[in-house]
Amino acid sequence: MKKKLNCIASDTNIFLKKYITSQNYSNLISPMKYGLFPGGKKIRSKILIDIGSLFSIDYKTLIIIGSAVECIHAYSLIHDDLPCMDDDEIRRGKLSTHIKYGESTAVLAGNSLLTMAFEILASPNLKLSEKVKINLIKKLSECAGHLGIAGGQYLDLSYEKKKISKKKVIDMEIKKTGKLFSFCCAAPAIIKNKKIKEVNFFETIGSKVGLLFQIADDLIDFKGNSKIAGKKTGKDKEKGKATLINLLGYDDSIKYCDKIINEVNRSLKNYGSKSKGINDTLIYILNRKK
Ligand code: IPE
Ligand code: IPE
Ligand code: MG
Ligand code: MG
Ligand code: MG
Repeated sequence: MKKKLNCIASDTNIFLKKYITSQNYSNLISPMKYGLFPGGKKIRSKILIDIGSLFSIDYKTLIIIGSAVECIHAYSLIHDDLPCMDDDEIRRGKLSTHIKYGESTAVLAGNSLLTMAFEILASPNLKLSEKVKINLIKKLSECAGHLGIAGGQYLDLSYEKKKISKKKVIDMEIKKTGKLFSFCCAAPAIIKNKKIKEVNFFETIGSKVGLLFQIADDLIDFKGNSKIAGKKTGKDKEKGKATLINLLGYDDSIKYCDKIINEVNRSLKNYGSKSKGINDTLIYILNRKK
């Protein structure tokens, strides 16, 4: 699993480096690269490849789409660390982008990474029909905007130091983190021009995987080691973040994660041994230390 993930990370980074190098110079390239490289598990790309393999989609195509997703993910982390948001100074074991380059530069580098994602999907590097590309761009913009990452981040911040119901916490975690995973699971079905029902089926799986991922991240914050995680831990409690661990406690949160894993595995059982990749990834997500 680790080897596979490293290989995906390396292929994604190679594509992104080449892509950025092919563009004209700007002062934002350095902070953009700082937010993108190195580091980052590239777990979203792995999910894309796991689901892509159910549909026998070409690896290179998935790496390019994964690169676009990683640009949006990197942007979301740069902004998440800003003083007006989580106010964190360490990310991926190094200084956060705004500490290194200043706040305004970090905001602009984040914006540029967000838009670069759509540029990549529209570029001739991605050899798909225009119709499919437009559908991918539409889905990715929905997942990044006010009903996805941005909206979820708004809720995350507005729920600080408040008593929030389990339903609302889950909705917030699905928006801020789950939606990008929804895109990764839906993209292969979109590429294969599947009917809306099948696309929705995979989007729902993605929401569950993303929720699992965020609960595991909250578990790392609760009990993990900051040196291994590459970011400060114990900060959710300090900030009064609304998390499932707050509501259910540590042990029941893990049980909740097991339930999600079983649900996802059950819904993919028709794919037989082809779903082994995603199964391994889910176990990895829950047991990871970073
Ligand atoms: C961290 O995401 C932020 C969340 C959405 C929980 P990752 O844990 O995927 O971050 P990197 O890319 O590996 O650093
Ligand atoms: C971040 O969640 C979710 C994003 C969409 C960026 P967190 O705030 O828990 O992520 P970390 O713990 O700072 O990586
Ligand atoms: Mg946050
Ligand atoms: Mg944070
Ligand atoms: Mg966290």
